[in-house]
Amino acid sequence: MTMKIIAISGSLRKLSLNTLLLQRITQISPPDIEVEIFSRLGEFPLFNPDLSESEQAVVLALKTKIINADAVIIASPEYAHGVTGVMKNALDWMVGNESFVYKPVALLNISPRATHAQAALTEIMTVMSAHVVAKASLTFPILGSITSPQALAQSDEITHLINVMLQELQQAAAV
Ligand SMILES: Cc1cc2nc3c(=O)[nH]c(=O)nc-3n(C[C@H](O)[C@H](O)[C@H](O)COP(=O)(O)O)c2cc1C
Repeated sequence: MTMKIIAISGSLRKLSLNTLLLQRITQISPPDIEVEIFSRLGEFPLFNPDLSESEQAVVLALKTKIINADAVIIASPEYAHGVTGVMKNALDWMVGNESFVYKPVALLNISPRATHAQAALTEIMTVMSAHVVAKASLTFPILGSITSPQALAQSDEITHLINVMLQELQQAAAV
């Protein structure tokens, strides 16, 4: 059976390295793993508990995709030692609908230096009752060394880390 994964980048930047990593994952994932990138975080309204989720099509779209997925991949930059605003905003929208509950999640980090956001995301996902898959939550040595899709595609180390990450996520989702 095909495993379905939703992948979310915490960066809206056109040349985002986090998004680039997710794109590479979609290119090399095996036939039994379908990875879809959700790229609409920029459309989310600022979270306000007074707003109704049912009136926000983009919020419902992400919620439905997470619920229907076997696992979620999140790749987010660190901004000022925190999670990016767009990512935190989207996650705040998902708190009430419980779409992340028991969902296997891999938290990918493109920078060995960026430890604060990774720790914060781990805490946020844990309190939202997601299953943070530690063995799939890998740091990829990209920032400072890889700047193009071509260089990313040529890196055997990145390919290896992606394969390990997908295998670990698949194992966690099968339990
Ligand atoms: C506003 C801003 C704040 C940043 N703060 C940090 C930081 O606290 N720690 C860090 O390691 N990198 C920091 N960076 C560097 C980003 O992690 C780096 O630019 C990364 O490539 C952004 O991800 P993206 O390529 O997916 O957009 C910051 C970048 C920006 C634009």
